Amino acid sequence: MDWGMQNRLARIIRPRTGKTVMLAVDHGYFQGPTHGLENPRATITPLLPYADAVMLTRGVLRSSIDPKHDTPIVLRVSGGTSMVGEALSNETITTAFEDAVRLNAAGVALSIFVGSPHEQQTLANLSQLVDEGQAIGIPVVAVTAVGRDMVRDARYLGLASRIAAELGAHVVKTYHCDDFHRVVEGCPVPIVIAGGKRCETELDAFKMTSDAIHDGAVGVDMGRNIWQSEHSVPMIKAVRAIVHEGYTPKEALALFGELKAPPKRSPKRKK
Ligand code: R5P
Repeated sequence: MDWGMQNRLARIIRPRTGKTVMLAVDHGYFQGPTHGLENPRATITPLLPYADAVMLTRGVLRSSIDPKHDTPIVLRVSGGTSMVGEALSNETITTAFEDAVRLNAAGVALSIFVGSPHEQQTLANLSQLVDEGQAIGIPVVAVTAVGRDMVRDARYLGLASRIAAELGAHVVKTYHCDDFHRVVEGCPVPIVIAGGKRCETELDAFKMTSDAIHDGAVGVDMGRNIWQSEHSVPMIKAVRAIVHEGYTPKEALALFGELKAPPKRSPKRKK
């Protein structure tokens, strides 16, 4: 692996711990102004200092992120479909590598839809990106999208993750599931998990994170469980504590509780 590729990967997966907390805020590319991301700048800005990398489209990057921030960018470069259209899987490459370089991306990301009517097209998209990324030293994150119909079990996610790795993805993003260790064991490149829909409780989100790390994931690329919380900064800090510092879910919950508690008012001084 050439120096540039290694360096970019090290900006995403942090060498101190070999782990990463990526912040996923790319949902609008097919969901529009989804709950919690209506105003991308307002949602993302307070979280940036705590994200090892941020995953988003060039449109939100240019419109909503101050270029003075140094949080590494993983640019979502696939799309062209919407949640109200006919087939979510009918994705194309939406952003050229020339623009990814211009935006100083540390990596690019696309979805693959294994088992969908557009499986072949999305796998060809991945192969094309890997070819181009290899040429200029930019790693590719492949997201094993499940669309509306796919079962999120170890057999399916293991299949999709392995295919992504075989086609050259440098990092695979998939979902957590029962027997997740089987997905990790069958995938020879680093895996991060998406958070999925917001969990019922914070503890559930922390357990999912902790289980994924325990099973061999290198981290998370998490969205809704962080930014749909009214306490998004405490949430990302608690997730970081699990991923980078080995906190248990209960310890993370205690940290979350401390961080979200309003600061105690000091008694008024008598004049
Ligand atoms: C989905 O296609 C998007 O790429 C999101 O980045 C991904 O689902 C992760 O976000 P969340 O944790 O909200 O599932």
